[in-house]
Amino acid sequence: MKETLVTLIDEERIKWKVEKLARIISFEYRKKTPVLIGVLNGASIFMADLSRKLTMPIRVEFIKVSSYGKGTTSSQKSKIVSLAEGKIKGEDLVIVEDIVDTGATTRKLVSFLKELKPRSIKICSLLDKKDCRKIPINIDYVGFEVPDKFLVGYGLDYRQCYRNLPYIAYMRKARK
Ligand code: IMP
Ligand code: MG
Repeated sequence: MKETLVTLIDEERIKWKVEKLARIISFEYRKKTPVLIGVLNGASIFMADLSRKLTMPIRVEFIKVSSYGKGTTSSQKSKIVSLAEGKIKGEDLVIVEDIVDTGATTRKLVSFLKELKPRSIKICSLLDKKDCRKIPINIDYVGFEVPDKFLVGYGLDYRQCYRNLPYIAYMRKARK
């Protein structure tokens, strides 16, 4: 079996949406200096684009979480691997995610970060696989709702590949 990629969200639509999210976040945090917490590795590209469109001062941190292993279904056993050191106590946090699927990773992250006593925590996810949710999570800023398909590109990987695609695609298995 060979996979073919089918574009779901093209580069232009991503760009437009990132700018829109940035406008909303910039307005809501106009009097604050939030700490954006990017979830590695998937959110790295979204974080780079989103953060550069924000108009207020921000801090950028990254957190490493492992969840999927090598397959295409969520293991729901996400583990916090590391958080780049930086002051979190009393800060306004915005978690920047590539995608929320079952919600396990986001729940883990929120409870981990709450322990560090920030002033507030909000969640921004470019993609929301709503139909796959097993844990109710309120995402404050959502880019696109997406279907229950395995997606790659714009940070999302399949076995660590395809993260650098400038668009988001799903994989269709095709017989050779
Ligand atoms: P959750 O814990 O089930 O919500 O899964 C969240 C994590 O799984 C995301 O941060 C992604 O890293 C990964 N993930 C979920 N869906 C996809 C997908 O369609 N393609 C690639 N990675 C995904
Ligand atoms: Mg991720």
